[in-house]
Amino acid sequence: MALSNLVNNLEESVTLSASARAKQLKAEGRDILMLTLGEPDFVTPNNIATAAKEAIDSGKSSFYTQAEGLPELKDAVGSYFERYYGYGVSHEQVVITTGAKFALYAFFAAVLDLGDEVIIPTPYWVSYAEQVKMVGGKPVFAVATQENNFKITTEQLEEVVTGSTKVLILNSPSNPTGVIYTAEELTLLGNWAVAHGILILADDIYGRLVYNANQFTPISTLSEEIRNQTIVINGVSKTYAMTGWRIGFATGNPEIIGAMSKIVSQTTSNPTTVAQYAAIEALNGDQTEAENMRAEFEKRLNMLLPLINEIRGFEAIKPQGAFYLFPKVSEAMAIKGFSNVTAFCDDILEKTGVALVTGAGFGASQNLRLSYATDFETLFEAVNRLKEYMGREFFRSNFNVMMYVEDVAESVKFWGSIGFSAQILDENSADIKSSADADVTFTLYKKDIVRQISPEAADSVPSLLLQTEDLDDLYQKLVELNHAAGEIVDAPGLGRVFNFTDPDGNFYAVRESK
Ligand SMILES: Cc1ncc(COP(=O)(O)O)c(C=O)c1O
Repeated sequence: MALSNLVNNLEESVTLSASARAKQLKAEGRDILMLTLGEPDFVTPNNIATAAKEAIDSGKSSFYTQAEGLPELKDAVGSYFERYYGYGVSHEQVVITTGAKFALYAFFAAVLDLGDEVIIPTPYWVSYAEQVKMVGGKPVFAVATQENNFKITTEQLEEVVTGSTKVLILNSPSNPTGVIYTAEELTLLGNWAVAHGILILADDIYGRLVYNANQFTPISTLSEEIRNQTIVINGVSKTYAMTGWRIGFATGNPEIIGAMSKIVSQTTSNPTTVAQYAAIEALNGDQTEAENMRAEFEKRLNMLLPLINEIRGFEAIKPQGAFYLFPKVSEAMAIKGFSNVTAFCDDILEKTGVALVTGAGFGASQNLRLSYATDFETLFEAVNRLKEYMGREFFRSNFNVMMYVEDVAESVKFWGSIGFSAQILDENSADIKSSADADVTFTLYKKDIVRQISPEAADSVPSLLLQTEDLDDLYQKLVELNHAAGEIVDAPGLGRVFNFTDPDGNFYAVRESK
């Protein structure tokens, strides 16, 4: 069959195809752990499901709505923006779409002409580049790596901008890295786009999934000029566990929104009516369940990160939002004899049954993505299998690990109060030793000093896996000091573990030494 050039040039979504392969193996009877898909493992909260049932029972969900969405839902989006963005949006500034994904497509179709360029910072969500290509645009990549915390700068934008650049995509918190740009960084990027007359596509879909007291600043709130230049994409899928309902929305300049509405009216017509009624309840109703789910993701992140970093050859930075870890695995690939991350990812699936997503589809050839939007049991079992696969004998040497603290003397007091001994090296550093397990030694280092050498390192939040002989005693002490997070859980292959944060916000997981 002669298919179109468009389709022949289109990549399949790596996240969806990775899930499909894993599901196929599962159907064949293999024991598969799915860490592939970007969707909450929770079901949609009750109040939302009830609103949908009522919309069906009353008959009002039987009919088409306005193509660009129910006015009541646009009102709900308006109130949502007032609450979370601090500014309102009128009806002509809102279009409701079939998932945020279609809002993105409608946007590209509305603003791009053949050959127009879209700057996409890497690593990027898989669909951006393919959607741009589908409407004849040209994706241009600004490369951010793990070494610079996966963030791009205006200097990098200067290198890739051309006379044909029409759009800059910003996705913060990011899929796949979980990184959030600060207000200062966004101001620089936003002003740069304004100065060049380039539209900003702000994909804020993970804006409510932010952890450990980090802040998400929507770029559209930074100045009038930036807001006028920005189309915001958002939706209910991730925040409200509503991926299956397919409701997203876009807000911004009425002319662009009107053009997107025209595209919606000629393609999908209105998004499914019953799902729109459900979305009204999601946005207007009680937010407790959304907060509970966010808190649960936070717990999983804090527990999982140190464990992932203990797998031989895996190195993950601490994300601030979304629900993904994106470890760099170049060392692990070298150990296992792979030079291609996709082949490495396939091998992991075949040998261990752990389904991950290759970083290649996200524009990162040394990373893998894993989603922690799944239960603890699955996550622990996955870590266990990955450790087995990479070589269980490995235990990261803690001798080189540095924890950055504001005040070394205060920090030494904290460690002393939970039974660790300290050797003060000088006024800026101290070695901490676990008296229960002398294998564990790490260094506290004064942040101010580190800041002078490497501001990025000083602001990073390191994590470390500790071992102790008396887990309950340590847990109790931390509970008394208000530093323990969550409960002690039984992790297959690892034994009992829990996690905590030191007074400087550094993260530790603790397991029982065997
Ligand atoms: C960055 C990003 N934007 C948009 C979407 C699309 O979300 P929706 O389910 O609302 O179409 C996703 C979903 O994976 C995403 O990760």
